[in-house]
Amino acid sequence: MDTFDFESRIIDIPDYPEPGVVFKDITPLFDDAEALRAVVDAICEHFSDAGITKVVGAEARGFMVGAPVAYRLGCGFVPARKPGKLPREVYSESYSLEYGTDELQIHRDALTPGDRVLLVDDLVATGGTAVATARLVEQSGASVAGFAFILELSFLNPREVIARDYPQDVFTLVKVS
Ligand code: PRP
Ligand code: ADE
Repeated sequence: MDTFDFESRIIDIPDYPEPGVVFKDITPLFDDAEALRAVVDAICEHFSDAGITKVVGAEARGFMVGAPVAYRLGCGFVPARKPGKLPREVYSESYSLEYGTDELQIHRDALTPGDRVLLVDDLVATGGTAVATARLVEQSGASVAGFAFILELSFLNPREVIARDYPQDVFTLVKVS
């Protein structure tokens, strides 16, 4: 499974959704059964001994990776959603993106102080979403155990941004420099 070629399945779309951005389309890693299994297995094998009790994924693509990872790790999955989507009391965090800004929320009772949380997403670009999601975990009193992404846009230095506040393990399957 170590030798799976994740990178060749990712399609570059220049100038989407705005000029100057190269959009990384990771959907070919999800519509193929072997690729999907390789993604989920690689992340779960890396964190199998980390004592993870919950997986948090950011809307929307973080749900696609996070839910199967949680299932295989034997954990619950907690969605970090865009504003107005969760029906009960929430914690909120604002953040900046490679294009635009946004806000994420989680239900206040979704995590508890004993939880060790793995943050999962398809891609880390500026690191803004990852840091905002980690702050939501901390607002809940739980601890951040690590971060997992399929793809890391290294040229935007997300590791530096995350490491300013979170020295925890950042695991990625593909790096683009
Ligand atoms: C994308 C991606 C990550 C985030 C990474 O989500 O799925 O969550 O951007 O960018 P960052 O590291 O600069 O924060 P997006 O907000 O576009 O939402 P989507 O999953 O609903 O498309
Ligand atoms: N989210 C933020 N930046 C992105 C990119 N370049 N491609 C796909 N998703 C993204």
